[in-house]
Amino acid sequence: MAAVKQLSQRVAAIQESATLAVDARAKALKAAGEDVIGFGAGEPDFPTPPAIVEAAIEACRDAAMHHYTPASGLPALRRAIAEKTRRDSGLTVAPEQVLVTNGGKHAVATALEVLVDPGDEVLLPAPYWTTYPETVALAGGTTVVLPTTEASRFRVSVEQLEAARTPRTRALLFTSPSNPTGGVYPAAEIEAIGRWAVEHGIWVVTDEIYEHLTYGGHEFHSMPALVPELADQCLVLNCVSKTYAMTGWRVGWLIGPPDIVKGAINLQSQTTSNVGNVSQRAALAALEGGLDSVVAMRTAFERRGTTMYEMLAAIPGVVCLPPEGAFYCFPSFEGVLGRELAGRVPTTTMELAAVLLDEAQVALVPGEAFGAPGYARLSFALADDALVEGVQRIAKLLG
Ligand SMILES: Cc1ncc(COP(=O)(O)O)c(C=O)c1O
Repeated sequence: MAAVKQLSQRVAAIQESATLAVDARAKALKAAGEDVIGFGAGEPDFPTPPAIVEAAIEACRDAAMHHYTPASGLPALRRAIAEKTRRDSGLTVAPEQVLVTNGGKHAVATALEVLVDPGDEVLLPAPYWTTYPETVALAGGTTVVLPTTEASRFRVSVEQLEAARTPRTRALLFTSPSNPTGGVYPAAEIEAIGRWAVEHGIWVVTDEIYEHLTYGGHEFHSMPALVPELADQCLVLNCVSKTYAMTGWRVGWLIGPPDIVKGAINLQSQTTSNVGNVSQRAALAALEGGLDSVVAMRTAFERRGTTMYEMLAAIPGVVCLPPEGAFYCFPSFEGVLGRELAGRVPTTTMELAAVLLDEAQVALVPGEAFGAPGYARLSFALADDALVEGVQRIAKLLG
């Protein structure tokens, strides 16, 4: 009997999301009674604001929400997204240019599906969010990684982009504020990158999901707002997940030129249909409700980020930059690799993360997951006391 072929090559080549895996391991250990402190989760620890939850409850009672709605998204939500984009980014778009997706991650996957053909190259500055290269590969593309270090505050330069450009270069994946580095590009650099993309006919996929989480004078800027000529070759991705503590509701969106968005809607109509209506109505309430709850969360994140950075930077052998945005510190642990820790000698951050989990009951995500071995990502979206206790445990083990 002939052996039955198992997974397709495309899917067999995908890695499990390292960030979700670390988070799941930490949660499982906690459930088993271990006193684990998890720095792995990329999500706010706050509950979704009550007014948003109430809007969802109301939507549950509305029979119109019990049935299929347009694949592109509820018309009121598409309008609210267009209005919010004008308010927050200074970018004018029509509601027809918006596709509501199943979270930000689905917006990333959709953007790459609609842009990339087999053999196309996608430029990706590293450290990068762990999902990007996998979704490029699923779309049949090739990721071209552009490494950066603390020396440039993890920001890619136009010179680096130009050196990597080939006739096959199709798109640049751009993220500011960044997961995992916590870095924020200044307006002048975003503008220079946008102008380079226009000059060479390269698409930009700009992931703006941390737009409202910037600290200490650093400001978010949307590339197509700074470079209006880019609008015809740019997809803007966003979601309510991080801004409104709504990671579980799964609402994101993609904004782009009408013909590309039409293609994305066709794709969605054949794959997932509309995003859950109750979640869409919750997202509508979030966008219409103003930014008060966001400001409160940002204040807490800024305080925690400063605490985490100061504590990490004080550990001998650890190099850490102050976070400028998002909710991550991304220190280098190069200086502690190769040293004996509790009878073990980790030589990679992957091994160090295992030692920290076993010996200090602290979960963090090794830099290997972000194309940056030697580093690790620690989320500061957790309670202040847990954060302090967790970093103290790291300091004690490494000290
Ligand atoms: C840069 C970036 N883009 C997209 C996402 C996905 O967001 P969502 O939870 O809405 O899928 C994340 C989540 O961590 C992220 O960090």
